[in-house]
Amino acid sequence: MKKLVSTLILGALATVAAISLQTSPVNADGTACFRTKFETKMTEDACKKGGQEAAKTAWKEWLAEAKKADAGLSCKTCHSKLGPEFPLTPEALPTFKKHGGK
Ligand code: HEC
Repeated sequence: MKKLVSTLILGALATVAAISLQTSPVNADGTACFRTKFETKMTEDACKKGGQEAAKTAWKEWLAEAKKADAGLSCKTCHSKLGPEFPLTPEALPTFKKHGGK
């Protein structure tokens, strides 16, 4: 009986832990960037200054410039998902460099 009770308690704790992991992603406060290591100075600077919101703004501005040379570009050229981890497509870094990104 004692074993059953502790199994139940452990089970409940595990469930609580699983739920809180799901509902509190890394960027729960909407500020920090998901990345902590950066390939680009632009993103690193923006993330350090203003977190993910600043990174989004920096990318929007960069994209507006890059579109003058290649109108077909979009966030989706380089990101398979737009949030919360912004995973990169294989073209992301080469495309960024091709358009003069640093
Ligand atoms: C030319 C490719 C390219 C385009 C277009 C692009 N991104 Fe990115 N983005 C990247 C790369 C590469 C990184 C990772 C940079 C690094 O590691 O320093 C990144 C990182 C980010 C991050 C940081 C995510 C984090 O928290 O770690 C955000 C936010 C972001 N991009 C938003 C956007 C948005 C919004 C757009 C469209 C307006 C966009 N990006 C368009 C290539 C691109």
